[in-house]
Amino acid sequence: MNNDELLSILNGIWQRLAKAVDDPADPWRLPVLGTQGLNGPSARTMVMRSADAAGRVLTAQTDIRSTKIPGFRKDPRVAWLFFDPTKQEQVRATGRAVIHHDDDITLRAWPSVPETNQLNYATAHEPGATIDAPALGQATSDDLAEAYKNFAVIRCELTAIDWLQLGTTAHRRSQFSWNGAEWLATWAVP
Ligand SMILES: Cc1cc2nc3c(=O)[nH]c(=O)nc-3n(C[C@H](O)[C@H](O)[C@H](O)COP(=O)(O)O)c2cc1C
Repeated sequence: MNNDELLSILNGIWQRLAKAVDDPADPWRLPVLGTQGLNGPSARTMVMRSADAAGRVLTAQTDIRSTKIPGFRKDPRVAWLFFDPTKQEQVRATGRAVIHHDDDITLRAWPSVPETNQLNYATAHEPGATIDAPALGQATSDDLAEAYKNFAVIRCELTAIDWLQLGTTAHRRSQFSWNGAEWLATWAVP
């Protein structure tokens, strides 16, 4: 990439993503993750758990029993949407997901999940199962070893980023695509 301004935008995106992981006040910590579900497009809010610029990787965590999992198996392509209403800044990122379940990645991530959140993986029924009352959707056991069996990490390698900043006088948009060796960058019409 030979345009300093575009490089600085890309670096700024990755720096902010990494910072947002640990900043509950940052709206970029709660992106929307879009997938091709078994019955068509599907989007949901997720907590972004890590952002690694060098590996071009974003991660999230989920229940292996959730309905998004078979969707990933059918089509691993993902779209992440980040929006900051204060700065009127949007990032759309696309790539491919790999699901990790009971492997070195989940073993490393599990201890950093607070115990109360670990219990979210201990529901008797799978996410999305129909129940007669909300209480039936809560964790019924405090067995963390059982909960871990349902814990999955979604690891997404990004290959394209679309950045848009709405301004009072002008809007700016740039696009970045990974060519296998480096990011290619260009300005785009907003
Ligand atoms: C603020 C917020 C954060 C969420 N974070 C996660 C998350 O990190 N992982 C997750 O699986 N679901 C998370 N959810 C729930 C998802 O949006 C979604 O309802 C759930 O994962 C089921 O989606 P699915 O039917 O596509 O599998 C979150 C929801 C909200 C409102």
